[in-house]
Amino acid sequence: MKKNIIIANWKMSLTDLEAIELSKKLVKKLKKQNEVDVAICPSHTALDRVASEIKRSEIKLGAQNCFWEDTGSFTGAISPKVLNELNCSYVIIGHSERREHLNETDGMVNKKVKAALANNLIPIICVGETFSERQEGHKDFKIMEQVSKAIKDVELNNKEIIIAYEPVWVIGSGQAVEPVEAEHTMQVIRQVIIDNFSPEIFDTQVRLIYGGSIDKDNILEFVNQPSIEGALVGGASLDVDKFVPIIDAK
Ligand code: PGA
Repeated sequence: MKKNIIIANWKMSLTDLEAIELSKKLVKKLKKQNEVDVAICPSHTALDRVASEIKRSEIKLGAQNCFWEDTGSFTGAISPKVLNELNCSYVIIGHSERREHLNETDGMVNKKVKAALANNLIPIICVGETFSERQEGHKDFKIMEQVSKAIKDVELNNKEIIIAYEPVWVIGSGQAVEPVEAEHTMQVIRQVIIDNFSPEIFDTQVRLIYGGSIDKDNILEFVNQPSIEGALVGGASLDVDKFVPIIDAK
């Protein structure tokens, strides 16, 4: 049985000192539990110090991006090998903000997924449609295309991946999509995963999560959907009193 996972995406919202403070508060406030996996993804510059803060807790560390090579002449890039050395367990790949502002393509996402897996990082692959794609009726096609390109020629062996479905137009809006609509999209993603891997791999090595304006009041409706196994949380992860109830929701 796969566990649900709640992942905090702190984006570029905090200074390193604020990230350390928030990690300390989370470690203090989070009750010992083993029902839900929890991960936090601070900026790269804060990873090392946040890792020290959460070392003795059940909280796992994630990065917000990585490059597709381990070493070399790639000025400013973040090596997945170094993320592994910094005790990261997860890395977010292909977030819509990177696709939009940094022209990250499905091809880059695919190379990053392979590099992450090769370095024992669990990729959190973000996919999602824009508002106009949805209005024009292209949502399912867009999602199928993003997922299949992201996992093209990926050898999972025994490793795990997470697919985060994040409708681009609801991120940071305060208004999530209807949970049943997210569930429908998860079924589409599930089919692409099964076509590319197998039903067994889907059942044991792939988790599907939702992201986009998750808060303590709507989390349960999402994770109670049959295919949704957690959430990627932006805004509501920046305040311990908003984030901990999302983890504790029952
Ligand atoms: P949000 O962000 O929860 O603030 O909508 C989610 C995300 O971008 O991962």
